[in-house]
Amino acid sequence: MSDRIVNPDYVAEPEKMNVKKGLEGAVVDTTTVSKVTPETNSLIYKGYPVQELAEQCRFEEVAYLLWNSELPTAAQLAAFEKEERQNRDISKANLEVIRLLPKKCHPMDSIRTGVSFLGSEDPRTWDKQSNANKALLMLAKIPTLIAADYRFKKGLDFIAPDPTLNMAENFFKMCFGKIPAPEVVKAFDVSLTLYAEHSFNASTFATRVIASTESDIYSATVGGIGALKGPLHGGANEQVMHMMLEINDPAKAEQWMLDALKNKRKVMGFGHRVYKYGDSRVPTMKKYAQKMADATGQQKWMQIYDALEKTMVSAKKIYPNLDFPAGPAYYMMGFEIDFFTPIFVMARTTGWSAHIIEQHQNNRIIRPLSEYNGATERHVRPLNERP
Ligand code: COA
Repeated sequence: MSDRIVNPDYVAEPEKMNVKKGLEGAVVDTTTVSKVTPETNSLIYKGYPVQELAEQCRFEEVAYLLWNSELPTAAQLAAFEKEERQNRDISKANLEVIRLLPKKCHPMDSIRTGVSFLGSEDPRTWDKQSNANKALLMLAKIPTLIAADYRFKKGLDFIAPDPTLNMAENFFKMCFGKIPAPEVVKAFDVSLTLYAEHSFNASTFATRVIASTESDIYSATVGGIGALKGPLHGGANEQVMHMMLEINDPAKAEQWMLDALKNKRKVMGFGHRVYKYGDSRVPTMKKYAQKMADATGQQKWMQIYDALEKTMVSAKKIYPNLDFPAGPAYYMMGFEIDFFTPIFVMARTTGWSAHIIEQHQNNRIIRPLSEYNGATERHVRPLNERP
């Protein structure tokens, strides 16, 4: 039965057709949200270099920028933060749903379910005018959902959000029951800004495709979470740490990489569809990963980092992407590995919302074409005459 589902005529030869496999190089729309310039390894959000935002602003300011096109004044930031802090609670029902999920399910499945539940609770689902407010609700509640799952998976009690704390501090408190040293909070906050937005990447494009059908912002965000989960996209930050743990010894890293390349293994945390000479976000995140190594005395991961990078660059001229420094940084902050991609969700929900709102403001349904390479036309025979 199941082998008949596979089309025996299928031949994957896109290069012989007019197909841009993976939409490589295809420009599918305009955007005012961010711009990646691979030639200069640069990334701007609403005109501002991401490195400046990461160093000089808190993540909340960056969220405000992505949604309002300008950095906030002190008064605007205070009002924005007040609203975010007041909306962090999730319903008892949503908390119970997270608690009842199988303990072994991946946290990305939990957060996908939690955001879907948020959508089902909001009576304004179809109302696009309230999308900015819904984006803010997701920004406020997604960290609570992730932290609840973190605690439940460890058999611990839920810790309610603390409105006296900023987003980064509050997330640590909800996960660990305490706030770490300021340099750890800063490194985490920097990672959120670096992860916030990146033009038409796979998950953002997925959210725009869903929004283009006039579907709602929650449904589009759920789709984005599904796309981000994959190891070729957001899931890479978890795989990087699994790889580093597998290597475990800086002296073995070079040979590990050479063996991986010999075996044509895809090495997680390296390569990028757009950047070919390095990822604009990596130097900043590497600096903060190094600070985590200095603070915790775990220099081993940065030594493995350097050895892998050196070997990959000299062998293949393929450079690390943001997931490469983010993985060990989150590990040294104390997070369980399978929560690295949910943290990415917490950040990227800002970029996704900005794109969903932009798509709705000037919408045309996204509906590309495909080249058919299946069986030629044929006709149905009665059941008893089929071969
Ligand atoms: N490890 C080993 N080889 C890699 C590689 C990696 N991480 N990334 C790219 N390459 C190789 C490809 O195998 C290909 O080699 P070939 O020409 O001999 O076949 C070449 O570099 C070009 O790469 P390509 O597959 O065209 O890149 P892509 O644009 O289709 O894919 C990624 C981009 C990001 C999906 C890909 O680099 C990858 O899988 N990286 C690992 C996962 C990851 O870190 N994802 C997070 C991205 S931010």
